[in-house]
Amino acid sequence: MHRYFGGKTALAAAFLATAGMAQAADVEVLHWWTSGGEASALNVLKEDLSGQDIGWQDMPVAGGGGTQAMTVLRARVTSGNPPTAVQMLGFDITDWAKEGALANLNDIAEEGGWNEVVPAALQKFSTYEGQWVAAPVNVHSTNWVWANKAIMDELGLEEPQTWDEFVAALQAAKDAGYVALAHGGQAWQEATFFDGVVLAVGGPEFYQASMIDLDAEALGSDQMKEVFDRMATLRGFVDDNFSGRDWNLATAMVINKEAAFQLMGDWAKGEFLNAGKVPGEDFLCFRFPGSQDQVTFNSDQFAMFSQGEGVSDEQAALANAIMSPEFQIAFNKVKGSVPARTDLDASELDACGQRAYEDFKAADASGNLLGSMGHGHANPASVKNAMYDVITAHFNGEFDSATAVEELVTAVDISK
Ligand code: BGC
Repeated sequence: MHRYFGGKTALAAAFLATAGMAQAADVEVLHWWTSGGEASALNVLKEDLSGQDIGWQDMPVAGGGGTQAMTVLRARVTSGNPPTAVQMLGFDITDWAKEGALANLNDIAEEGGWNEVVPAALQKFSTYEGQWVAAPVNVHSTNWVWANKAIMDELGLEEPQTWDEFVAALQAAKDAGYVALAHGGQAWQEATFFDGVVLAVGGPEFYQASMIDLDAEALGSDQMKEVFDRMATLRGFVDDNFSGRDWNLATAMVINKEAAFQLMGDWAKGEFLNAGKVPGEDFLCFRFPGSQDQVTFNSDQFAMFSQGEGVSDEQAALANAIMSPEFQIAFNKVKGSVPARTDLDASELDACGQRAYEDFKAADASGNLLGSMGHGHANPASVKNAMYDVITAHFNGEFDSATAVEELVTAVDISK
């Protein structure tokens, strides 16, 4: 399967590498689910396929948010050796579809009735020019806070409802000698904070205008300065060793009662569950204060790379497995996310999951399901990365908030 096609274009090479070859019995899946909770969720998928006698070749590329995975993917496709299926987010799917690299899943989607059960906000990324090119396995959202319940009880803290209450809770945890905010200094993690802070400062309209529509006025507004001011406040509550720490190690600090809070997407719940912790008893989940009932979402989808002669049997089996109602519940219970289909009975999900599923469906119904900037659902990678650079530079003290606003406007203007 691994051939070199020197001199040919990446796409032609990718096609030639797979066209007309006997169907392999395995799927090779590129993904970035390498933490304990993520690996447990992935096992649900592996076991489902192994029950159908389909083997699994694992191609893990560590790095939350998938930036490194996308770099490895590009190299694989360029060398004429694309994986069978790839975990992908938002606009990355669209970018690959535009290059003509993805298989058309329309027959499978039609048979499975995907059109009726996957909301339009997700279909925007699962389809390209009328063709299904990816199967959405879940919906995560980024505007969550994860809290150690024992610390909250010990300090007499209630779930904060406003920014000021949240800052007071962070301060109380710090004063008591805990790390107030568990954080890993990596650009995508700071961008994950940013989703919630933008939403809380300006509401859904401001989020839409600045993060999705890239409206220069919104990007350069006083509200955006307030966003950066709040980011600076949050920076004051992280520990000295935050640089480069992986997100799941930050979650472990909350699990182990070393830290009080973490701002992270609900994949963090997968880590709590994997450690045997129970929502409501050991840890709490609540929306970033000021963004209650709002959702900045990202959906993990599996895009299938073209095998030349249409979709292979293994790809079809993988896509069908991913979209089956039973699988969507079984997988998302472990992953921390909620099903990508809106027609399922959520009673098997835990309290955080039920809340997330309700929020997701309500946001979808009201047209307020906002794509996460931090996780590639607001804009293509070029814009996302330009925003990452400014947010991280400011977080690390390179700019004050007023300069960060100016830098953001310029960076977005250049990259879009
Ligand atoms: C993905 C999640 C993943 C997280 C951390 C996000 O971009 O959507 O599935 O768990 O990154 O790796």
